[in-house]
Amino acid sequence: MRTQVGIVGAGPAGLMLSHLLHLAGIRSIIVENRSRAYCEARVRAGLMEDWVAKLLIATGVGARMQREAMVHDGIYIAFNGEARHIDFHKLIDKQVFIYDQKEVVTDLIAQRLADGGEIHFEVEDTSIHDFATDKPKIRFRHQGKAEQIDCDIIAGCDGFHGICRPSIPANAWRGYDRVYPFGWLGILSEAPPPDKELIYCFHERGFALFSMRGPQIGRLYLQCTPEEDLEKWPDARIWDELETRLGGVRPLKRGKVLQKGVTPMRSYVTEPMQSGRLFLAGDAAHIVPPTGAKGMNLAMADVRVLSRAIEAFFKSKRNDLLENYSKTCLNRVWKGQRFSWWMTQMLHRYHGIGEFEDFDMKRQIAEINYVTGSVAAMTSLAENYAGLPMA
Ligand code: DHB
Repeated sequence: MRTQVGIVGAGPAGLMLSHLLHLAGIRSIIVENRSRAYCEARVRAGLMEDWVAKLLIATGVGARMQREAMVHDGIYIAFNGEARHIDFHKLIDKQVFIYDQKEVVTDLIAQRLADGGEIHFEVEDTSIHDFATDKPKIRFRHQGKAEQIDCDIIAGCDGFHGICRPSIPANAWRGYDRVYPFGWLGILSEAPPPDKELIYCFHERGFALFSMRGPQIGRLYLQCTPEEDLEKWPDARIWDELETRLGGVRPLKRGKVLQKGVTPMRSYVTEPMQSGRLFLAGDAAHIVPPTGAKGMNLAMADVRVLSRAIEAFFKSKRNDLLENYSKTCLNRVWKGQRFSWWMTQMLHRYHGIGEFEDFDMKRQIAEINYVTGSVAAMTSLAENYAGLPMA
């Protein structure tokens, strides 16, 4: 097989890159080790920044999102039994959109296939080669047969546990890592969320977040330990704990728990995000703790920069945008890292883990009090949460 851009991974980054390249008249092939059904069913992050929603619409993949997404003007931060609203719409004239990553993936796969795009699902033993030369290759097995894609550029969009990042020679990059001493226990439930917007709760027993996937479907999270045993969390205990941490700011309706899982929390950045003709995008290059809702948004920002750089490379024989890819992306990535770390440290409890946990709790309450009371501080949160401007 021969194409211009070989893409590893059919998540939001790989699919959006392929779509943007198609619109620019550039050919690509995607390989993905999971099945199409798996990619379309996995519940992941659900919050889209203002400019990402506009990008989906402007590039012709936003119709279902426009019908089905829940549009929010802001968020609530709750503490000491009080919920305070931060109104992005009023502060900075932006909104955010609740639309699960799996829906974005579903819409992008449908569009790529309708446009004649090539996606190979359920491939095995994927490896990348010769990206230090101008003839990189992707090798894999599909239905027992060895295959090779010859291309000009490889995009590594294969997530944090993918094969692309570790394929870069060890002396050519480094990772910046921060692991948090807690995780999130998340449920999807057949019960209406307590508010039509998100409520981020700081509570002495730990953080809780009340999000949703529809007017009758809650997506709710509790701070827990990174290796929390789900066996110890029967549904009734989860609901009791959610209710306690919501602190009485809204009534909480209980319902059937459809899914449960534990997510560890980590910040990670790869520098540089490129090596020769290999370019990493999305979680393959960086991950954030979920508190700032930045994961999918940073992935979309990477591929927007990458698609433009690739277009300049093929159409105008310009190398400079590709050479600057990592630098351009890292500027935004580190701001996203900073914001995600900041939201995380402000809203989680360090009980039993922090050196100064009692002092920290008072300091955190003062910070939340300030952030929800000062127009300057609320504006800063709003700008970062709803999405910094794209260059
Ligand atoms: C969701 C997850 C987040 O981490 C967040 O900050 C906001 C919303 C969600 O899954 O809906």
